[in-house]
Amino acid sequence: MATKFYVEDLAQHVGEEVTLQGWLYNKRSGGKIKFPILRDGTGLVQGVAVKSNLSEEVFNRIDQLTQESSFVMKGKVRKEDRAPGGYELDVTDIEILKIAQEYPITPKEHGVEFLMDRRHLWLRSSRQHAILRIRHQIIKSIRDFFDGRGFTLVDSPIFTPAACEGTSTLFETEYFDLGKAYLTQSGQLYAEAAAMALGKVYTFGPTFRAEKSKTRRHLTEFWMVEPEVAFNDLNDNMDLAEDFLVYIVQSVLKNRSAELKTLERNTAFLERVQKPLPRISYDEAVDILHKKGLPFEWGNDLGGTDETVISEQFDRPLMVHRYPAEVKAFYMKRDPQNPKVALAVDVLAPEGYGEIIGGSQREDDLDLLLQRIKEHDLPQSAFEWYLDLRRYGSVPHAGFGLGVERTVSWICGLDHLREAIPFARMIYRLTP
Ligand code: 4AD
Ligand code: MG
Repeated sequence: MATKFYVEDLAQHVGEEVTLQGWLYNKRSGGKIKFPILRDGTGLVQGVAVKSNLSEEVFNRIDQLTQESSFVMKGKVRKEDRAPGGYELDVTDIEILKIAQEYPITPKEHGVEFLMDRRHLWLRSSRQHAILRIRHQIIKSIRDFFDGRGFTLVDSPIFTPAACEGTSTLFETEYFDLGKAYLTQSGQLYAEAAAMALGKVYTFGPTFRAEKSKTRRHLTEFWMVEPEVAFNDLNDNMDLAEDFLVYIVQSVLKNRSAELKTLERNTAFLERVQKPLPRISYDEAVDILHKKGLPFEWGNDLGGTDETVISEQFDRPLMVHRYPAEVKAFYMKRDPQNPKVALAVDVLAPEGYGEIIGGSQREDDLDLLLQRIKEHDLPQSAFEWYLDLRRYGSVPHAGFGLGVERTVSWICGLDHLREAIPFARMIYRLTP
């Protein structure tokens, strides 16, 4: 097979003649010189086609190329500091593969709904390309982080018999003769079982919430990574979350600086993501809100605006721990020092991006867990297997969930989660 060349590797081929396959991103033409810009998925490169160097037929072919037509461009690689990727191709041949019909997305401004309806095409734009590459880097760094620390990846099921994160956001489906099944809201309960088998585990997959809210922070389908560690308490959990976030951000800064530049992301905010991340209790967070004049009542959950006001007081991600137990999930352990609060922690991203991590130490006492299941009006029978984890060698354990799209959105500096996932699912969007 002939060697394939890609735009991102051109630096290693200066002076050589290479053949690139791709799509026409844009072109400019003078009389005796034409500049077709090729996009191949790894980058953009401008071809320089000089009339006197080419047959008339090849030179004229460039005129036929419409935006997004597929073609092959052959030429000699030349370093050109003024060019977008730093290199240009002195064209020796052009072969047309398919002429594209009139492309609906042009360099002019389009509305977001127009673009979301054409998301399958919109992905080709430089901005979306950059976001997807950063998303990939984030996912890779998540896996590298845990794999490098002896965690085992354990996949949790998508069809589940019961709720994990409250019954109000469940997607329901008929499941043969077995009655109802629900799309998973979180792999946590299964991660807990796996942690009792393997010690340090993580589960990573799509999760579903029938969110009726139309906010910029909510999707109905999103990806979540959830580590769970046997014998970890709340402090260990916060230490892990801190190391984890610093690792992800540093990995993006190191490997995806060109993409961050494409997005015009102010990386000064990201450079600051270093240990230690501040840790405050919910009580302290409430004090901040009161000092800022907000009429917040102790016992309520923090809303989006509250989170923004609190996190504005800090220059890096912030951990808020020990929330009122009443507003948190059934599985969270209460603080033995103050049973009104749960040993929970949320990590709030700076710059108003809100909660990116939610986690806790888990209730490890059988009787207390049974009591919580009753208080939350959950069907005990569906949780018998989960209760077994407390019947057979229960130990303290803790974990958290990081939302991939919230993290992508924050690191890329996006306005809305819909651009942080290739094909967003929201209350009012199921296509493409
Ligand atoms: O805080 P949540 O609901 O926590 C859990 O699901 C736990 N079971 C995790 C655990 O302890 N293993 O969700 C965790 C994270 C949030 O911090 C947020 O980043 C993301 O998941 N998230 C969403 N992302 C996009 N759209 C939604 N509707 C989301 N709901 C939660
Ligand atoms: Mg949460």
